[in-house]
Amino acid sequence: MAIDKKFINQFVNISSKAALSSFYLVGKKNKIAADKAAVDSMRSELNKLNIDGRIVIGEGELDKAPMLYIGENLGTKNGPKFDIAVDPLEGTNFAANNLPGALSVIAVSEKNNLFAAPETYMEKISTSVKEKNVIDLDYSIKKNIFNLSEYLNKKPENLTACILDRPRHKKILNELKKLKVKLKLITDGDVSGALLVTEEKYNVDIFLGIGGGPEGVLAAAALDTFDCNFQGRFLFKTDKEKKRATEMGIKDLSKKYELDEIISGDTIFCATGITSGDLVSGINIDGEEFTSETLVTHKSSALRKVIKLKQKII
Ligand code: FBP
Repeated sequence: MAIDKKFINQFVNISSKAALSSFYLVGKKNKIAADKAAVDSMRSELNKLNIDGRIVIGEGELDKAPMLYIGENLGTKNGPKFDIAVDPLEGTNFAANNLPGALSVIAVSEKNNLFAAPETYMEKISTSVKEKNVIDLDYSIKKNIFNLSEYLNKKPENLTACILDRPRHKKILNELKKLKVKLKLITDGDVSGALLVTEEKYNVDIFLGIGGGPEGVLAAAALDTFDCNFQGRFLFKTDKEKKRATEMGIKDLSKKYELDEIISGDTIFCATGITSGDLVSGINIDGEEFTSETLVTHKSSALRKVIKLKQKII
């Protein structure tokens, strides 16, 4: 069954209000407070909806931030059963330091269609290529770049790869440099990074590297509607992380997940800008009103667009 279109505006409203709440704390050098403002707003707004919602992806355990807890039930219970993944403030550093790219993100699926990802790192790859065996996490960087180059009919030096600027990516970065691939290094915010392959205007051909697992699942929800591809593999550093993953039902800890194993059925995805970034503009306050921009996708109606909303601050 499809998710009723009437929910699109309701979820846009939820991420917009969370973005506004966090916006007041932009540039205050306080990641936790900016995150908490978005979390509290999302929780109270979700509780007003006529849904029977369950949080399958909360956020925060990686950096001990305030969370919407995994397993938390939200909504009035008078409505459809939804699985909900949230990242109320994606890019806590961006918000704290008043830098571009902070987002408020929520993804919704019908019950049992969204992967409950543990809060560990994930090796990820996204491209616009849907065909199998062209781009694959198991291939070397060289093979992926050569395949992509052939598939897109672009020389490697004309391809752009987006990747988090982290010491752990030294080897990948060296490979990409050797292949003369252009780099788009991001300091944070890999939900947005993964989504830059969705449209030509962003000039990114491949997103790759290691980032948060929950962020991978959120990006996958939107990539599915954009008809792009995503693969992910969790990385576990400690026994505690492995134990937690096993408890969450993951049997093969080194499994490579395809997009349709991460997200299936109908979905709504909303990412509202807190500060302006590649995907959307940030919150703008004008007197008693505020304007928000939200990238929205709804799978069953093939909706994928930026919605600009002006509304009263209440
Ligand atoms: P936060 O909003 O929780 O700070 O996450 C930002 C982020 O850049 C994510 O987009 C990314 O998946 C993750 O952190 C990468 O983690 P790390 O900073 O440890 O490399």
